[in-house]
Amino acid sequence: MRDQLVLGIESSCDETSAALLLGETEILGHVILSQDIHRVYGGVVPELAARAHLAVIDDVADEVMRQAEVSLGDIDAFGVTVGPGLIGALLVGVCWTKAIAFGLGRPLVPVHHMEAHLFAPSIEDPEAVPPFVTLLASGGHTLLLHATEWGQYRLLGETRDDAAGEAFDKVAKLLELPYPGGPEVEAVARDGDASRYSFPRPMLRGDQALGDASYFDFSFSGLKTAVAQEVQAVKEIGALEAERTHLAASFQEAAIDVLVTKTMRAVDATGCQRVLLGGGVAANQALRSEMGRRLGPRGHLFHASTRLSLDNGAMVARCAVFRLDRGDVAEGNLGADASLPFPGLSISED
Ligand code: KG4
Ligand code: ZN
Repeated sequence: MRDQLVLGIESSCDETSAALLLGETEILGHVILSQDIHRVYGGVVPELAARAHLAVIDDVADEVMRQAEVSLGDIDAFGVTVGPGLIGALLVGVCWTKAIAFGLGRPLVPVHHMEAHLFAPSIEDPEAVPPFVTLLASGGHTLLLHATEWGQYRLLGETRDDAAGEAFDKVAKLLELPYPGGPEVEAVARDGDASRYSFPRPMLRGDQALGDASYFDFSFSGLKTAVAQEVQAVKEIGALEAERTHLAASFQEAAIDVLVTKTMRAVDATGCQRVLLGGGVAANQALRSEMGRRLGPRGHLFHASTRLSLDNGAMVARCAVFRLDRGDVAEGNLGADASLPFPGLSISED
């Protein structure tokens, strides 16, 4: 019997994406369409995102079929992101996929967006499987988990306010850089001196111990405020142009220091030397290299390519393959859930 052909659909935020996956690793077709309308507004406008998904979802799926040289009838199962995300945007993907899957009489697998990010590296690297400690950092979430096996995740820490990607986006805005801010801040930071500004490392203190609620948790809003104050001061003397690279580099260093230190705490606490970086922020080269440096030669670091680190349909299809195997198939009343809980998550007792 040939491997299953699964179509994954992603529309939770501002990427409309579809991918056809054969088995667990063979991408036969993949389209990721980023909506550039939001650049005009400096952030994602939910209503515009939903409308833009609706306008292109048919064409995105058609192009994937064309690349793969298959027709809808050849597809064995469908996976779709049902949450978390923007409700209107999610509903476009869910309704579209429901109509096609049920019309064809094929199984439809509901996928959690952040669990899909966990699966992205395994499409490209068969070694990127649990057990691992994972930092999942995107525009809406920052989670530190211990994945003991697929589907079983222990929550160690999470953000108490802004997500890591959100902090990059907000700092980009302060620095008058376009949305999405992460890649822009990273690019500008390459030419900057990270020691020029000393920004706080929120929720990171040497006297924290395992068992303290703050030991693994994150907070980024104070860091953003510190950058905002510095930007204000720099603007008052007309020096933003000259200082932008240094502000970006100093912010990025502080954010990465917190992310990597907390992840290393998780490595030490669990004894698991395998670390997986997932979510859009995992596209950050400085984060990857600092994580690799701190993990050292005894550890294993996994992350997807940049294309599969950002939102994409292939990770949705890959996660659907796993969920389908477990029989997690949707009923006809499937909806979307903007704040869908992470599946298989248990709360750490440490
Ligand atoms: O996972 P993702 O593509 O979408 C969400 O699920 O949110 O993550 C997008 C987030 C944005 O906040 C974006 O600024 C950030 O990831 N990001 C980055 C980089 N590329 C994307 N942050 C830092 N450095 C990057 N190179
Ligand atoms: Zn994402």
